[in-house]
Amino acid sequence: MSIPEALNVRTPEFAVPRHVAIIMDGNGRWASTRGLPRSEGHRRGVEALRRTVRAAGDLGIGILTIFSFSAENWARPANEVRELMGLLRRFIRNDLAELNQSGVHVRVIGEREDLSSDIRSLLEEAEELTLNNTKLTLVVAFNYGARQEIARAAQRLAIEVAAGRLPASAITAEAITAHLDAPDLPDPDLIIRTSGEQRLSNFLLWQAAYSELVFVPTYWPDFDRSTLEGAIAEYRRRERRFGGLIAQTGS
Ligand code: IPE
Ligand code: IPE
Ligand code: MG
Repeated sequence: MSIPEALNVRTPEFAVPRHVAIIMDGNGRWASTRGLPRSEGHRRGVEALRRTVRAAGDLGIGILTIFSFSAENWARPANEVRELMGLLRRFIRNDLAELNQSGVHVRVIGEREDLSSDIRSLLEEAEELTLNNTKLTLVVAFNYGARQEIARAAQRLAIEVAAGRLPASAITAEAITAHLDAPDLPDPDLIIRTSGEQRLSNFLLWQAAYSELVFVPTYWPDFDRSTLEGAIAEYRRRERRFGGLIAQTGS
């Protein structure tokens, strides 16, 4: 594993994590504590997402990955799945132009084959339109599961081995990383999960090896710039060691 430059020391007070990933959780509970349908929580969750994308850009975060729909979320009632698919459609249709104008590069990770063709086209349109933007990369994890992503990487490598183009000894950690859905992106520095749950739920398992995890009690629809700043403040208090020692002098 390569150690990110200058990170093998106490995180400086001013440091902004380069890559922040968020498990946007708690929409349903936000709604039920208010006697509202879960769908209202999801709708308000999209507003929190808009706020968060703007705040991330303002704070100088380079990459924001958001967990929008997990490979396991198909297990929810059909009407809720339909609602979540509809929200993604509406988010891209309504927000793509503004995201593009603000310099956001949209990328998507996850399995696209199970998605309806109109959603696949919208995701492709978003990626193509924003391809050259550099202010913020917004990685949308949709129909995403980390175990499935790692299995896909293993399959791609196995095809090369079976065809005799690669020796089995070439299947290294670096080679698996290079065959993930977004192989060029650095690992997340900070993973935030909202709603008080303290688990990864099959999100970025490979990439999270040395990520700092911050769990906040806030339900996702209430997440805003100050919650994000609070999580970053917590990140700054952490010591990242990557298996080494703090302030190594080489002696
Ligand atoms: C997050 O909120 C949205 C998705 C997982 C799609 P939830 O819908 O999981 O809300 P809770 O966890 O039931 O409160
Ligand atoms: C994880 O949340 C998935 C997303 C946020 C999209 P879940 O609500 O699906 O996770 P569990 O079921 O509580 O672990
Ligand atoms: Mg949940």
